[in-house]
Amino acid sequence: MENTLICVLVISIFFSCFVSQSHAGNKQIQALDNLYKTKRSADSTIDTSHIELPRNVTRDIVLLSQDGLKKKDRISNFPGQPFVKFDQYGGYVTVNESAGRAFYYYFVEAETSKQHLPLLLWLNGGPGCSSLAYGAMQELGPFRVNSDGKTLYRNKFAWNHAANVLFVESPAGVGFSYSNTSLDFNKCGDASTAADNYVFLLNWLERFPEYKDRDFYISGESYAGHYVPQLAQTILHYNKMANKTLIHLKGILIGNAVINDETDNLGMYQYFGSHALISDETSAQIRKYCDFSQNATTRSAECNKATDDANRNLDNIDIYNIYAPICLNPNLTSSPKPTSHVVDPCSEYYTYAYMNRADVQEAIHANVTKLDHAWELCSDVIRHWHDSPSTIIPLLREFMENNLRVWIFSGDTDGRVPITSTKYSINTMNLPIKTSWHPWSYQGEVAGFVQAYEGDLTLATVLGAGHQVPSYKSKNSLALVSHFLTGEALGNSRI
Ligand SMILES: *[C@@H]1O[C@H](CO)[C@@H](O)[C@H](O)[C@H]1NC(C)=O
Ligand SMILES: *[C@@H]1O[C@H](CO)[C@@H](O)[C@H](O)[C@H]1NC(C)=O
Ligand SMILES: *[C@@H]1O[C@H](CO)[C@@H](O)[C@H](O)[C@H]1NC(C)=O
Ligand SMILES: *[C@@H]1O[C@H](CO)[C@@H](O)[C@H](O)[C@H]1NC(C)=O
Ligand SMILES: *[C@@H]1O[C@H](CO)[C@@H](O)[C@H](O)[C@H]1NC(C)=O
Ligand SMILES: *[C@@H]1O[C@H](CO)[C@@H](O)[C@H](O)[C@H]1NC(C)=O
Ligand SMILES: *[C@@H]1O[C@H](CO)[C@@H](O)[C@H](O)[C@H]1NC(C)=O
Repeated sequence: MENTLICVLVISIFFSCFVSQSHAGNKQIQALDNLYKTKRSADSTIDTSHIELPRNVTRDIVLLSQDGLKKKDRISNFPGQPFVKFDQYGGYVTVNESAGRAFYYYFVEAETSKQHLPLLLWLNGGPGCSSLAYGAMQELGPFRVNSDGKTLYRNKFAWNHAANVLFVESPAGVGFSYSNTSLDFNKCGDASTAADNYVFLLNWLERFPEYKDRDFYISGESYAGHYVPQLAQTILHYNKMANKTLIHLKGILIGNAVINDETDNLGMYQYFGSHALISDETSAQIRKYCDFSQNATTRSAECNKATDDANRNLDNIDIYNIYAPICLNPNLTSSPKPTSHVVDPCSEYYTYAYMNRADVQEAIHANVTKLDHAWELCSDVIRHWHDSPSTIIPLLREFMENNLRVWIFSGDTDGRVPITSTKYSINTMNLPIKTSWHPWSYQGEVAGFVQAYEGDLTLATVLGAGHQVPSYKSKNSLALVSHFLTGEALGNSRI
């Protein structure tokens, strides 16, 4: 089973109206479920140890000439987009010439004062899910796809009000990103993803040299709880090796993030129990029989039974946002349905239809090599995940020691990587509290709760938001990221 990590998620659900009865529409969750399952199985071959970073800078980093490419990458218009005033770019950056590996990126400059605002990278997780599919087109990007699958509407609270925002589809095999060496798809993992992301970034900065000295932040959600810290660690490492600030990394922002397997699992079942999704008996069985610790090599039959019982209860709800409606009719409509700030539960289908249009791909300089598979929200060409450390908490400590800003947020109606998990994970660090748990508010309403720790680590919830926080609470998510980028504490205004 160890080789079936991601491929199981790609049952072709998009044009079948039956499976949409379950939460099968959300591919991001299936990718994560499959990884967890594989990691916890007794015969897992996934390496869960920490990543060893290379000691030799010159050997690893290849900078290619980027002359003239920025201009070519300028996107004049997405088909069906409303008028906007900011500049957009999309295209490929080669990350490994000999293998023929290239990452697709989409870059949205800030609407106003782009020269002064920081550069913010956003990564989605999975593993194997696309930052274009989720981050750009359903969460924090400037546009979302209408139900006709061919026109776009504006996200009023896009994060390019606060930063110049860069999305990249990684690793190769995700979205439009590809490798001409198909063997690469059998060798994916956290370490190679971090290394390729780093090479991508250095080369991208050659293409956009005006951003080289800009303050740089990395953000992401879900399994990007691995990608973001691992890329940040790589950046710190190479800055040190080069004795030079190659990239001006200032901080990281991760949401509903997978950061520590043991507490992530514990917190998840605890959330199911405390949110009336599973019975007290099942909760008690899980507490009694399940050992989620890293060293537990076998899982007891009692534990398996209890978790199976729990999972059966969750089949027909959106575990990413337990109070949200699910997608009942994934069919496109001939004219756009009315839109709101909350993403339509069927938006994955609209996004899939839109990104697979030839005119869209041409306009955004994607799929220039005519790939032999469709663009997917989560990859079905990546077949195996090689390594996934059981915890990234030591990296968070390292960032704090290096004066990076570390903010962790959590949409509190996500049941998959819920607030309970995040709290337990942070608690394992035993950090002194600077400002204890209190509401933060925005425009006169409580937007969530926040606790700050000594050493510039902040934990903030977003009230009523699911896993993809900006999809559900777009305005408050923009407030959150704006505070993060300026380093201003979230207000303790009790109203
Ligand atoms: C680093 O790699 C280069 C090129 O492979 C090699 O010439 C050099 O000796 C290496 N340096 C160290 C310190 O390993
Ligand atoms: C390029 O990728 C291949 C695997 O496809 C790997 O063996 C090689 O070391 C990579 N080259 C560099 C410079 O990273
Ligand atoms: C992959 O192969 C295609 C077709 O030969 C080529 O056009 C493209 O440049 C290659 N990609 C990379 C990154 O080398
Ligand atoms: C690192 O750079 C600083 C100045 O930029 C210099 O003083 C120092 O000697 C360098 N250290 C090493 C190990 O090269
Ligand atoms: C897990 O195993 C490692 C290595 O064998 C050991 O250092 C560690 O203390 C163990 N952790 C627990 C919680 O038993
Ligand atoms: C979606 O479209 C298909 C094919 O046109 C049709 O058979 C099906 O009934 C539609 N589903 C719904 C729920 O309207
Ligand atoms: C790329 O283009 C080809 C040919 O038009 C198409 O069949 C394929 O689905 C596209 N793939 C992606 C990833 O967009």
